[in-house]
Amino acid sequence: MFNNRVKISHLLTWEPAQQEVTVMGWVRTFRNNQFIALNDGSTNTNLQVVVELGQLDDAFLKRITTSAALKVTGTVIPSQGKGQKLEIKAAAIEILGDSDPEKYPLQPKKHSLEFLREKAHLRFRTNTFASVFRIRHSLAFAVHQFFNERGFLYLHTPIITASDAEGAGEMFRVTTLPFDHPPRLEDGSINFKEDFFGRSTNLTVSGQLEGELGATAFGDIYTFGPTFRAENSNTTRHLAEFWMIEPEMAFYDLEDNMNLAEAFIKYIIGYVMKHNREDIEFLAGRLAEEEKQLPADKRSELGLVEKLEFVLNNDFERITYTEAIDILLQSPAYKKKKFQYEVKWGVDMQSEHERYLVEKHFKKPVIVTNYPKDIKSFYMRLNEDNKTVAAMDILAPGIGEIVGGSQREERLDVLEARMKDMGIPADELWWYLDTRRFGTVPHAGFGLGFERMVLFVTGMSNIRDVIAFPRTPKSAEF
Ligand code: 4AD
Ligand code: MG
Repeated sequence: MFNNRVKISHLLTWEPAQQEVTVMGWVRTFRNNQFIALNDGSTNTNLQVVVELGQLDDAFLKRITTSAALKVTGTVIPSQGKGQKLEIKAAAIEILGDSDPEKYPLQPKKHSLEFLREKAHLRFRTNTFASVFRIRHSLAFAVHQFFNERGFLYLHTPIITASDAEGAGEMFRVTTLPFDHPPRLEDGSINFKEDFFGRSTNLTVSGQLEGELGATAFGDIYTFGPTFRAENSNTTRHLAEFWMIEPEMAFYDLEDNMNLAEAFIKYIIGYVMKHNREDIEFLAGRLAEEEKQLPADKRSELGLVEKLEFVLNNDFERITYTEAIDILLQSPAYKKKKFQYEVKWGVDMQSEHERYLVEKHFKKPVIVTNYPKDIKSFYMRLNEDNKTVAAMDILAPGIGEIVGGSQREERLDVLEARMKDMGIPADELWWYLDTRRFGTVPHAGFGLGFERMVLFVTGMSNIRDVIAFPRTPKSAEF
């Protein structure tokens, strides 16, 4: 057996009593030819491995370099130095993999996040990214636990689809046709009958439509998978490939939907606050350092831990779109012409407006409901005023929109009329419309952008830093 190692996170909970132990990991630093700081990714706290002077020859010592991989066997002893309870007195060290210090791109010093984005294949070996990705893992686990506890069924919706769930036309095409000489019809258009699926297909923008098929049989389902959008948005909040969680519930109206979304967000935040305390505190410290560089008026009022606790302990504000527009029109920011984009009933709120509402006006997460029908998707339930739909967006401080959802239009005639108005091809969505033909029920759902949630919880500021290998316009390295 090769692997009988103890993980460092576990070892650090032991009482040192001369136990013999084997650890494996990567060298962070090596001081005075004596003290190795070893990290195995289970925690940011390095394990100190002490080498006795004269124990190893010079040629071997030279190979103990940053990021070299080691297997160390030794005894657990109380630490002589400050800063740690225990350390390992090395009996045997094996170098599993060398790391040439002339070529290894990361130095044991602070690198900028921009620099590390270029080195995304190695950035997990830094404390910041190690914390971010351990938290991301825990959030994903908490998502499944939340829904499992409530009897939701995890439905795997397809990645390749022939429909545009959002009707926004922001899709990546999937094809095996040769693009230099694709087969054409007589009128010159491309003949997709000859394509792999015998029709035109794309990567999914959302699993919702298939999710609705599940909800109208199982009652409560959720999806959790990658979604793809070919929108050319080069911002700190947009990815071309992102992960989305989409619960869909039969026998739910808009209010039930909001209650679930709020409980869900609080649950997953509460989970990481409990299980990832060390990483949250590390990132809180990082953020506080970063904010010191900012002018006083740009700094957050709350630290990361206080912000998360505040969200856990307070109700989200709930307002209608119409109320939101009124607040914006009354705001000092509007009166002083501080908004770049127009504010009036009917416009899609821009991120500057959303951030004003959550960061300046309410200072907490806000759920905005009942948007004008013209700026929302075809499947949202039309309200009695005939002008608005039963939509809800959740806006979070520092992020903007984190959740988008709605009660769905369950009335076949109203849905068909809406689709016609909006130019959505009803014949291609015959299977979706069948749910409204056979046992239709009031139902609702929402989508939580997973990376935006990770941004919120980690206090990171660029979405490229919370997904392992970001896909953005003009960028798909690694
Ligand atoms: O508001 P959206 O477009 O809603 C839907 O896709 C619905 N089908 C959801 C549903 O009701 N089942 O997207 C939902 C969320 C947004 O609120 C945002 O958090 C995230 O997905 N999102 C993105 N995240 C990163 N990059 C992008 N390009 C994103 N577009 C949306
Ligand atoms: Mg949206």
